[in-house]
Amino acid sequence: MNNRSELLQFALDISKEAGEIQLSYFGNISSVSTKSNKIDLLTTADTESENLIISKIREAYPSHSIISEETNNIINDSEYTWIIDPLDGTTNFTHNLPIFAVSIALKKADEIISGVVYNPAADKCFYAESGRGAFLNDKSIHASKSNSLLDSLIATGFPYLHDEKYDLSFSIFKDFYDRTRGVRRLGAAALDLCFVAMGRFDGFYEFNLNSWDICAGTLIAREAGCKVSDWNGGTLPHDGSRVLCTNEKIHSMMINILTKEKYSIFY
Ligand code: IPD
Ligand code: CA
Ligand code: CA
Repeated sequence: MNNRSELLQFALDISKEAGEIQLSYFGNISSVSTKSNKIDLLTTADTESENLIISKIREAYPSHSIISEETNNIINDSEYTWIIDPLDGTTNFTHNLPIFAVSIALKKADEIISGVVYNPAADKCFYAESGRGAFLNDKSIHASKSNSLLDSLIATGFPYLHDEKYDLSFSIFKDFYDRTRGVRRLGAAALDLCFVAMGRFDGFYEFNLNSWDICAGTLIAREAGCKVSDWNGGTLPHDGSRVLCTNEKIHSMMINILTKEKYSIFY
């Protein structure tokens, strides 16, 4: 994209620096701690990546607010809020799987205006600004053209918390598995969204995510021509409680499954 805004260029620059931190630890992780439960992991790379991103934002834009996964929110009296996942895909990262990313979104009032998702292991940088298209390493990207579930490959994920929705989430998985070419679970929601944006996947749904998982990726997907909504087609909840992102053509077909009466517990 030519004529990127200064804010987007700043987000691109800090995502690359955070990616370098991640790569310096990748394949060489000496300690892993846990957060909400035994399978919810935290590594030094998550923390160092976050420290770098937050310190750069505070230096360049001290009046802006910051919401980031591993630390307390910084809420200032500003219309700008940065929403950050310093390392999306920590489980993959810990197991030396190169499917992880830095995700940085910028919200102005209620609108996400910029998003960057950078996968350093493959040096793939997805980005978008509202109204200006979506890009992967400076090339324009677009959603796929599949117009039936049977021609579609979709993606999903599962939360660390195994609560009362846990069993039913596998029933949804089976509903889609029975009707599509397949369902993938890659383990990095920000990249799942970007893979719908670039047409690799035709759709993606997940629940119990957080704003830092989805804000950058959903802007990139929208700008690539995707449709993004709540599971029932309503406005996307920015808190990540439910997200549906498709090439638009299969959106209503996915909604038909996600709104089955037996899945009402998810709403
Ligand atoms: C996780 C990943 C995963 C999703 C989890 C997220 P993290 O983020 O995005 O794909 O299924 O629900 O929490 O913990 O690796 O940043
Ligand atoms: Ca995440
Ligand atoms: Ca994370």
